[in-house]
Formats: sequence, structure tokens, C-alpha cells
Amino acid sequence: MAIDFFINLAYLLGAVGFVWGLRLLSSPDTARRGNIYAGVGMGLAIIAALVAPLEGANNNYGWIIGGIAVGAIAGGISARRIQMTAMPQMVSIFNGLGGACAVVLAMVELVNMSNPTAGGIGIALLTLLIGGVAFTGSLLAFAKLQGLVWDSTITLPKHNIINMVLLVGTLVVGVMLYLQGADMSLGLLLTFMGLTLVYGFSFVAPIGGADMPVVISLLNSFTGLSAAAAGLIYGNQLMLVGGILVGASGTILTVLMCEAMNRSLLNVLIGGFGGGGGSAAKGTGDQVAKEVTVNDAAIQLYYSQSVMIVPGYGLAVAQAQKVCKEVDDLLEANGVDVKYAIHPVAGRMPGHMNVLLAEADVPYPKLLDLDDANDAIPNTDIVVIVGANDVVNPSALDDPGSPIYGMPVLNVWEAKHVIVLKRSMSPGYAGIQNPLFFHDKNRMLFGDAKDSLSKVVSELKNL
Ligand code: TAP
Repeated sequence: MAIDFFINLAYLLGAVGFVWGLRLLSSPDTARRGNIYAGVGMGLAIIAALVAPLEGANNNYGWIIGGIAVGAIAGGISARRIQMTAMPQMVSIFNGLGGACAVVLAMVELVNMSNPTAGGIGIALLTLLIGGVAFTGSLLAFAKLQGLVWDSTITLPKHNIINMVLLVGTLVVGVMLYLQGADMSLGLLLTFMGLTLVYGFSFVAPIGGADMPVVISLLNSFTGLSAAAAGLIYGNQLMLVGGILVGASGTILTVLMCEAMNRSLLNVLIGGFGGGGGSAAKGTGDQVAKEVTVNDAAIQLYYSQSVMIVPGYGLAVAQAQKVCKEVDDLLEANGVDVKYAIHPVAGRMPGHMNVLLAEADVPYPKLLDLDDANDAIPNTDIVVIVGANDVVNPSALDDPGSPIYGMPVLNVWEAKHVIVLKRSMSPGYAGIQNPLFFHDKNRMLFGDAKDSLSKVVSELKNL
């Protein structure tokens, strides 16, 4: 009895840790603390699950502790070694492993049939379905973000139809298993598992380019839902609460990402476009992008009244956030008003730019969201684009043939002047050329962003 009380108390405190941690994660000032609270909640969950009187579990402590040790060592080492630029891939692969856990739990349950009721079997099949899709879908998302696949969109002929057939086939096999109940055939169960895994790959394959943020957050919510379903299988309240929190936040993020792309979820899922095939990647024709020297750029910035910095994925690659803040400080010291425009899908993961700028101690009030930044840009003297590309591409507004047509972007060309810092004329993640580079108001400052900004810092110090 007493042990039950302490287990339930630990689950309750763990749930409070998750919810409180999530709340603190909403601001960079408190995010670190939020992470610790959620971690403590997870620690309590693990301890409570270990001491819970689960039939047969006493014999498995060696396996459980061994699993925890391997997971903790692998997780700890990869978290320490991971480059900031590879963080989105890591999130994807960890997400996929969550899906894999759900698959294993569901398979164990369906083979052992510890709860052979219709409800128990239905939940286990659902866990297997969602977990399987989240597992292979996340592995493919990882491979795309890591650049391990030749194109971010992989489309077979009639891919939508293939996906529809796969989905219907998977569901039919699932229903057959459900009807077979406790006597289900192992062969059919393995077929079902195989189908969920293949569907996960096939579902993510055609979605790429600028649509990746949507699919990443969707997979995140799938993993949460599969964990919640696994919590139901084992009657583990905390697993249920944790899964629902991840599922709900992943779903909210998916909606936000769809809004950021101005696309409906259905459109992203069945559209299967948004990258790769972009037409004019290198087709610059006769157009010439004009350059600016470091010295001229520094003088322009020094004598302006307002500057808007637009960070993008290149800021993360160059790790230029600290030197960017140095430029900001030098300009502010000269009375220039410096702000940052944050596009919701800039970088490679939700909140990527906020994390980088927080790391460089850029005060949060300086960060403007898409709408506020677009309102402020017409009154801005110079927009400095640091390694951003797709999120400032005017084709999203004026080229109906563009893969990113309809996506809201930062209207940087409405400022008085624009300076783009990047290394070459290469396209961004969506694989399409950016007409902004040839705009009259724009000047290119070629080079690694950290390098270029460091030179700007030296010039500013000499002015
Ligand atoms: P991108 O469009 O990907 O452009 C990044 C630019 O940074 C490139 O054109 C690259 O040009 C430049 N760059 C790379 N390394 C650099 C360095 N060391 N120094 C200076 N420049 C460097 O970035 P974005 O504007 O942030 O847009 C994000 C894209 O990723 C969107 O299409 C978005 O949909 C997609 N995406 C986002 C997410 C999330 S959740 N945010 C997830 C997956 C995909 P050079 O090579 O010429 O230098």
C-alpha cells in the first residue's frame, strides 16, 4: 500500500515537473531551468517505474539497468559532442528512437498478449502503427537533414497513389489483426509492422525543401502520441501524461509551422512539393549581383539610424552569433537602433535562431517576429542578411511557379538598403535561386559570415 502511495506521488511530481518545465521552456531566460525540472520529472518517472510492482520485472533488473546505462552513455556523449548545426538531425534521430521504443513495446505486448481484451489489442496495434511511422519517417528526416540523400524530395511516379494504397493496406491489415484478437497470426503481425515501417519512409519521402519543418513537427507529435498509447498499454499514467504533452506540443507546432508556410497540413502532406526541383537554381542569366566591400559595408552601417539583422541557417553554420552581437554592440554604441527579424522557419529547427541569439546574449526584446519585422522594415535603413536565403526570397510572393510560392517571407527589399552575407550564389534549402540577390537595393558581401562580420567589427572599431 505504502509503496503504491509513493509511486503515485512520484508520478504526480514527475508530471508536475514536465508541465512546469515545459512552461519555463517558453522563454530563453528560464529555458535552462525548465530543462532541469523536466529532467528531474523524468528521473522520478524512471525510479517510480523501477520500483513499481510489475509482474516478472524483478527478474529483468539487469536488462533494465543495462539499457539505462547504454542509453545514458550514448545520449550523454552525443549531446556533448553534437555541433549546434547538427542539432536538428539529433532531435530527429532521438524522435525516431522514441518511435522505435513504441514499436518494440507494442510488439512485446501483442506477442505476449498480457491484456487480450479488445481495448488492449486495439491500443497496442495503434501504438505499433504510429510508432512505426514515426520511427522510419524520422530516420529519413534525419538522413535528409544530414544531407545523406541525394535530394530532399524523393518522389516515385504516382507517389500520392502509392502512399494512399500503402496507408489503406496497412489499415486493412491492422483491422484484420484486431478481428483475429488474441489468436492473431504472427506472420500477419510482422506484415503489419513491416507495412508501418515502409509507410513511414514513403510518407516522408516526397516532403522536403521548405516543407521539412512541418514534417519534423508532425513526426514529433506522432512519437508523443505513440508514447501516450504505450502508457495506456502499461497503465502508466506518467508515460501517458508525457506522451500527451509531446503529442499536443508537436501538434501545436505543426499548426504554427503550417501557418508560417501559409499551407494547410493536407496540402503539405499530399502536395509533396517544396524543394529540390526548383527551376532556376543556377539560371542566373545575364543578371549580375553587385558586391560591397567590407569597408563600405561598415561605413554604411556606422552612419545609419536603424539596422535589421536577418539571421538564417548560415549564421548557425558559421557560428557567427557572438560576432554578430559584437557588431550590434558597436552600432548601438554609435546610436544605431539594431533589431533582429526572426522568420519562424529560419534555420533547420523551430526556434533555431532564438537559441543561437540567446547563446550570444542578444536581449529578447530585440527579436521581432515575422509580422512585426515586416512592419518595421520599410523604415529601416539597412537590412543585413546573415546566412538567410529562402526566408527572404521574393519569389514566395510574386512567382506562382516557385516551390515556395505562398510562404510568407521577410520583405527585406522594402528597406532602403540590403546587404547579404553568404559565401557564394548557392541556393538555400529549397534549392531555388533568389532574385533578391540581383535587386537594385542589394549588395553581396561574399565570405563565411563569421569571417565577414569579424572584418566588419575591425572596420567599425577604426571609424
Ligand atoms: P537557407 O535558405 O537554407 O539558406 C542558408 C544560406 O546560408 C545558404 O544559401 C548558404 O549560402 C548560406 N551559408 C551557409 N553557410 C554559410 C556560412 N558559413 N557563412 C555564410 N553563409 C552561409 O536558410 P534560411 O533562410 O534560414 O531558410 C531555412 C530553410 O530551411 C527554409 O527553406 C526552411 O523551410 C528549411 N527548413 C527549416 C526547418 C526549420 S524547422 N526551421 C527545418 C528543415 C528545413 P552559401 O552556401 O552561398 O554560403
